[in-house]
Amino acid sequence: MLVDADGKEYIDGLAGLWNVVLGHGRRELADAAREQLETLAYASGYSGSSHVRVIELAERLTRLTYPNINRFFFTSGGAEANESAIKMARSYWKLRGRPNKTKVISRELGYHGTTLAAMSATGIAGYWPLFEPRVPGFIHIPSPYPYRAATTGGPSHGVAVANALEEAIVREGADTVAMFLAEPVIGVGGVIVPPDDYFPRIREICDRHDVLFAADEVITGFGRTGKWFALEHWGVAPDIVQFAKAITSGYVPFGGIGVSDAIARAIDEGPVPWMHAYTYSGHPVGAAVALRTLQIIEDENLVAEASRKGVNLLSVLRGHLADHPHVGEIRGKGLMCAVEFVKDRDARTPFAPEAQVGARIHAEAIARGLFSRVRGDVFVLAPPFVTPDDLVDRIGEILAAATKAVLG
Ligand SMILES: Cc1ncc(COP(=O)(O)O)c(C=O)c1O
Repeated sequence: MLVDADGKEYIDGLAGLWNVVLGHGRRELADAAREQLETLAYASGYSGSSHVRVIELAERLTRLTYPNINRFFFTSGGAEANESAIKMARSYWKLRGRPNKTKVISRELGYHGTTLAAMSATGIAGYWPLFEPRVPGFIHIPSPYPYRAATTGGPSHGVAVANALEEAIVREGADTVAMFLAEPVIGVGGVIVPPDDYFPRIREICDRHDVLFAADEVITGFGRTGKWFALEHWGVAPDIVQFAKAITSGYVPFGGIGVSDAIARAIDEGPVPWMHAYTYSGHPVGAAVALRTLQIIEDENLVAEASRKGVNLLSVLRGHLADHPHVGEIRGKGLMCAVEFVKDRDARTPFAPEAQVGARIHAEAIARGLFSRVRGDVFVLAPPFVTPDDLVDRIGEILAAATKAVLG
């Protein structure tokens, strides 16, 4: 729960900013931070240095992430993780004797953070205008969006949209493309779940053209979708995985990347150190809080709980809203859900932006004690994994009441 300056309570429908998966006020996490601060408040994680807590964390992550990913580098958050992944991909190809492979292909509607390269990879144009020019060599292709897919007689939507990656690689020249960067389930862009055949096809295309596949799991990592990491849903592993947010349940800033054994080998065998690190890479307090967070997720079986509660949340939302004439789609994966509002349900026509439908529903939800976010007319929900069942029900009731207040 959140409490505002006037003492009014709200359900935290977005777990902070998708990160506070264990909920607010967990003493165990405060204890982990305090104990670490008393023992070793800071140690360098810069190139050539490490310390015990961060080594323990890396060891634990080898068990939790994809089987081919066993080497880690830590940051203070998600954008730094994406910067690190981009630089990792470029350095990998240089070390493998292919220095022209530098371009990054990412997707429209993708969100990767606001530092310059992460912003350039981000495919939501609203993040760009004040900060142009973007970094050169960043290319966007469409995202799968099953609700908005055109029905054609050709391949499935998932395969057709994945094929746009191959077209872009061929157009740019495979010898110039370092990586493909994508969120397994789009978060900020409106909780968009890909069709089941999309990521298997993406993996095939990346392999065929020697393009690294980096999964931005800053939101989806550590259980949000009902699996520890979201590409597990489709039996696919990336070459690089970026994480942040849930790894410390948002209690202290932390993030990082994991890389495949092949990439780790290239770095190990390289003639120069990997000259990329931050003062706060692998901060001991972040590592200690991350270890305690991951322990709690395991002890309380919260990955399975996120899956179970996500199913409940979708069914509560559908129970209240599936028949509403302005509800276009109710979708989700695990405890990451969205309701998309439309003007005309049959034609799937959106409301005019000036109508501010999403913003008005958001305001009505807040007035009734539910806090979250909207993207346009898509209301997104990602409550903490520990949200009690009765509050999951309450989220559905409040969103339904807010919808009726605005749209009848
Ligand atoms: C998928 C994704 N990647 C990266 C980021 C950026 O993370 P940060 O804000 O910690 O830099 C976010 C933040 O919401 C995100 O959702």
